[in-house]
Amino acid sequence: MKKTVVAYAALPPSCIARLAQTFDLRDFTGQSGLSRKPAFATALAEAEGVIGAGLLWDRTRIEACPKLRVVSTVTVGYDLYDVEALTERRILLCNTPDVLTESVADLSLALMLSCARRIGELERMVRSGHWKRSVDAPEFGSDAYGKTLGIIGMGRIGAAVVRRAALGFGMRVLYDARSDKPQVERDYGAQRRSLDDLLRESDFVCVLAPLTPETENLLGAREFALMKPTAFLINVARGKVIDESALAVALRERRIAGAGLDVFVREPLAVDSPLMLLDNVVLVPHIGSATHETRQAMADMATDNLIAALTGGEPRAMVNPQVR
Ligand code: GLV
Ligand code: GLV
Repeated sequence: MKKTVVAYAALPPSCIARLAQTFDLRDFTGQSGLSRKPAFATALAEAEGVIGAGLLWDRTRIEACPKLRVVSTVTVGYDLYDVEALTERRILLCNTPDVLTESVADLSLALMLSCARRIGELERMVRSGHWKRSVDAPEFGSDAYGKTLGIIGMGRIGAAVVRRAALGFGMRVLYDARSDKPQVERDYGAQRRSLDDLLRESDFVCVLAPLTPETENLLGAREFALMKPTAFLINVARGKVIDESALAVALRERRIAGAGLDVFVREPLAVDSPLMLLDNVVLVPHIGSATHETRQAMADMATDNLIAALTGGEPRAMVNPQVR
């Protein structure tokens, strides 16, 4: 008998086809409001595997899935999953590292340059017929070339950002991480700093740390006050790493020059968020990994992970391999 698998969120047809071939697939992809749908709860109660993204997997949801053995998230970050509760139940969690590294690094650079060159603001000026005024503006933006970049959380994506920044933009790179990263030091001259020193010295601060109890609200009013008034803050990690209200105040009062944000405390960002009223912030809708190539690669990897885990193979990435 085929094992029951539940799919939700977005998956390309090629992955749905592979899953349907291997499993008794309950397909909820493309549907919203799933937590309120009885059919979804019924399917989860029977499922040995699930694949998807964007749903909270807390203890209550996990307890409602008595047969569950594998959760395959189509994300690299797993802050929505209670790993401890999954591990206690010996449920394997698989994620999608590596395949999105270059796309997220690209977006980090795109946001840095958009902030420094005021792309969002000036684009809005052109569209509203104010070309002349923008050309006359006394202060047009600032260079990224040759500046200091501070990276918070030096993992795989951090290293890909450093490569771009150091080789392409002649930037000096500082980083804050839990341990020394000899390779980026050797290859690109990156230097480890305390968080406070990194904030004081950097022209661009780029947040790439995963959301954990240690990084929640890592940057708030005190930290923004340490930054240069000419500095920019980039966040492509998770919204909750930053105190968003304190950031809005720092931006409004020009205590820092600007910010480029891909992630927010609540997504989608509310239309009445104070950030919406500010010109010196570039806002994009959590698209770090959202390119055709990368989303397909993530979906393929998550599909591979689930099939391998439920058919006795070796998943490509596991968060809690100790349960096997
Ligand atoms: C996206 O934010 C991810 O974690 O893959
Ligand atoms: C943070 O990302 C670290 O590896 O220390």
